[in-house]
Amino acid sequence: AERLAPKRSLAGRHALVTAGPTHEPIDPVRYIANRSSGRQGYAIAAALAARGARVTLVSGPTALTAPPGVDRIDVETAREMLAACEAALPADIAVLTAAVADWRAAHEAGRKLKKRPGETPEPLPLALNPDILAHLSAPGPNRPALVVGFAAETDDLLRNAAAKLDRKGCDWIVANDVADGNGIMGGDHNEVHLLTRDGTETWPRLPKNDVANCLADRIAARFAP
Ligand code: CTP
Ligand code: CA
Repeated sequence: AERLAPKRSLAGRHALVTAGPTHEPIDPVRYIANRSSGRQGYAIAAALAARGARVTLVSGPTALTAPPGVDRIDVETAREMLAACEAALPADIAVLTAAVADWRAAHEAGRKLKKRPGETPEPLPLALNPDILAHLSAPGPNRPALVVGFAAETDDLLRNAAAKLDRKGCDWIVANDVADGNGIMGGDHNEVHLLTRDGTETWPRLPKNDVANCLADRIAARFAP
């Protein structure tokens, strides 16, 4: 029976996971967003819960249902996502997979903007959104012991991902190549590299659920007594 019992290697740990896109309103009917199905993040939330962690999943708008046993908090904007993450602390582990919109409209219009046929539209002023990964990685009493970021790149994958590890102050980066036509975005599989302070590992192309399980096993090993 011992042998068949599920792995509870993260029992007693709290994991915070972000997933999905954020939507940044322009007016009541339009928004700015990134492409993200949320699948990789939801799979990671499920894998951590299966290992006994208490999981808080802060999710932007997706078509997915929360994995069993996972506490999902729905948000729309980057600023809401940051506030929900901060409210969920303390956590031992943070895995930030969300495709956060880097910019929002500087002024959200309360009424629908009307197009004027034949006229060039005004430029849309943008404001920079908060960087949730950088916020959660900053030193302080509430910093999770392990902060994992993601880096989706179309060019210079490993160089850009290594630069993100340094710039954001997180502990690990999961880097994936989302070049057009490789089927990663919105697909079932993912092909990732795990960058830590000790070096880079390249994992084979795997179903997103398997990537999630491998990452959860690595996280469990990091917390093993
Ligand atoms: N991230 C975040 N908050 C943001 C932007 C990004 O938490 N406002 C997180 C993502 O969830 C991901 C990591 O930071 O874990 C890297 O996101 P990415 O968009 O690749 O990096 P950026 O620093 O935004 O750089 P750029 O988009 O210019 O490549
Ligand atoms: Ca970005």
